[in-house]
Amino acid sequence: MERLDKLLASTGRWSRREVKLLVKEGRVLVDGVPAGRAEQKADPDVSRILVDGEEPAIRQYTYVMLNKPAGVLSATEDPRQETVLDLLSPELRRQGLFPVGRLDKDSEGLLLLTNDGELAHRLLSPKRHVDKVYYIRVDRPLGEADRAAFDRGIVLADGTDCLPAKLEPMGDGLEALVTLHEGKFHQIKRMVASRGAAVCQLKRLSMGTLVLDERLKKGEYRLLTREEVSKIGGKH
Ligand code: URA
Repeated sequence: MERLDKLLASTGRWSRREVKLLVKEGRVLVDGVPAGRAEQKADPDVSRILVDGEEPAIRQYTYVMLNKPAGVLSATEDPRQETVLDLLSPELRRQGLFPVGRLDKDSEGLLLLTNDGELAHRLLSPKRHVDKVYYIRVDRPLGEADRAAFDRGIVLADGTDCLPAKLEPMGDGLEALVTLHEGKFHQIKRMVASRGAAVCQLKRLSMGTLVLDERLKKGEYRLLTREEVSKIGGKH
């Protein structure tokens, strides 16, 4: 059971304040009966909720895939700098979305935004070891010795132990794929630094089963498909 204003605002079509007005004007029906108050609770799986005679697409939670551009903060708000929330439409911004895990300001690629706190918790839990794959470009060629070091598990300059990770150098070694099973602060940059190299570009390609849709240009986003939501363990 959830409040009507919350349920209807989840469609992205109305704000909670607008839902209040719709209810007042008698335009919201629950099982054929005009709703009395916007705070009234209903179960959208059990009751038929209509607005102006139509059934809006009520989603319990919202899941957005963003191709994060460099230069934008992975945060919900910041007094001075642009955040990933600023890239979304006003309708989506009203839905209490937050990024699941962070990408550094200068990192790009797959960022999941949701208001499903439970899912976020599960995806980020260190116990779950959700694999994350990144494309990196570096300033000196990476090779077999670096691959073996990642494979053993790198100890960072400050003594932090990293779990074994996969490094797959490509071509001349200036590009590579990295697979992490955890997410420490600036992890890849610091792992690469421990090998005497520096990361010039970092782009996340996937997180568990969720793969960045390459049709999304930098800064573009889309809702996850039902299949993607199911696969990552979200709720429709
Ligand atoms: N590792 C980093 O160093 N930065 C990121 O944004 C993600 C992983």
